[in-house]
Amino acid sequence: MPTAPDLRDRLTAAGQGRLAGVIDNAAPEDAAALVDQLAELDLALIGRLVAQFVGRGDPSGASGALTPPDAVPLPQTPAERARETGARARGDSALRAGEVGLVLLAGGQGTRLGFEGPKGTFPFGTVRGTTLFAHHAAKVAALRARYDARLPLCLLTSPANDAETRAAFADADWFGLDPDSVSFVVQGALPAVDATTGEILREAPGRLALSPDGHGGVFLALRRSGALDWLVAAGARTVFTFQIDNPLTSVADPVFLGYHRDAGADMSNLAVRKERPDERVGVIARRDGTTVVVEYSDLDDATASAEAPDGGLVLWAGNVATHLIEIPFARRLTDGGLQLPYHRALKKVPYLDEDGRLVQPDAPNAYKFETFIFDALPRAAASITVEIARDEQFSPIKNATGADSPATCRRDMNRLYARWLAAAGVTVARGADGEPVDLEIDPRLALDAGEAQARLAGHPPITGPTALTPS
Ligand code: UD1
Repeated sequence: MPTAPDLRDRLTAAGQGRLAGVIDNAAPEDAAALVDQLAELDLALIGRLVAQFVGRGDPSGASGALTPPDAVPLPQTPAERARETGARARGDSALRAGEVGLVLLAGGQGTRLGFEGPKGTFPFGTVRGTTLFAHHAAKVAALRARYDARLPLCLLTSPANDAETRAAFADADWFGLDPDSVSFVVQGALPAVDATTGEILREAPGRLALSPDGHGGVFLALRRSGALDWLVAAGARTVFTFQIDNPLTSVADPVFLGYHRDAGADMSNLAVRKERPDERVGVIARRDGTTVVVEYSDLDDATASAEAPDGGLVLWAGNVATHLIEIPFARRLTDGGLQLPYHRALKKVPYLDEDGRLVQPDAPNAYKFETFIFDALPRAAASITVEIARDEQFSPIKNATGADSPATCRRDMNRLYARWLAAAGVTVARGADGEPVDLEIDPRLALDAGEAQARLAGHPPITGPTALTPS
């Protein structure tokens, strides 16, 4: 099927003339499928990315000295505790006024976990096998009940997992949430290109090798889909963005919100103290007078391990990738296209060769391109970083085994719930290894230690695996 002249022109201008030839010679159904996929892509952008990134060193690694952020520390002194109480009160009132929208980033591919299907359908719960979607949705339901507010929820999905994500919500009756209060927003996709020639790769005769365009794509996706307007119509001024893989997230945490509002910030961050220099988290830092996040892959060993006089790390602030973002700021970032830099990642991407044979490369052969949500930080007129306690709020599920895996997350959740129960005066049996028995506390029963204390005091001792749910 001959390529339409305007598509041929656009492909040629983007340095993808060979793909026009592939379409010319493809079976009609494959050619039609390729044309459909290309219609969704910004070919001019792909041309610019190839010119910027292929055949040269990575130009995105900015330089300049990094210093630690000026963060709100975990409260230790009476004055710091009083400041936290004030922030919580202001956050509580913003939530009661329904001024917050919730944006769950769930468009990633979850490759490292090696789990088929959207990561949100992963059953991580220790007792009931609760899925990540069910757990986050229960937190949203609990928050809405606590504040008697609408708090609309957007899920960022990708073309690859959107249908399955919607089906997971529909099959579970939206986990008890009003379907009108949940919206699904599909982020864009970008093709992998050959690392030497810059040509767009195909993974099947009628299929380009596409992957999500990074969570920075959330801004454009929210704006183009009308979800930003939907959030505003529901009363939101600020959005809380969080990652699907961290079940400990304190969703729309009122203390964080209070500090963000007090600072008049456009975009704010949560930070955990890094456990070791090579922990695979980005670092929040200051460079040239602005706040930045530098990915672990872009940080050299010497900088990552530099020690402060107190023996801690200079760059201690691990990025939890959880933010508060003002909606007008999100709009500004998309005026005239997405105002974020692109990053390239060299990956092994299976592709069809000249003869149409599928090649499984044994070495990285292709670039994928992504934008990151936190690259918006340097554009924020004001920003604040708030330190959180890792054992209370951060235990992501990234890998199948080892660090940041289901096993470490389940251990951390059991420990957290055991502490809540202990504070409520409830004893919890422990195994020979000293770890508490498996525990789940449904967020609708208790969202935090305070609610656990109020609602679980007087509960009989827990002697075996137990899921505590609202009656
Ligand atoms: C991420 C952060 C890192 C941080 C760490 C904390 C990036 C690039 N880095 O690392 O700084 O310290 O989390 O846990 O994010 N997602 C999308 N669309 C995409 C890509 C990802 O929605 O196109 C979502 C995923 O579903 C997931 C989250 O973003 O919820 C994290 O993505 P991932 O690529 O796993 O980032 P990490 O390398 O784990």
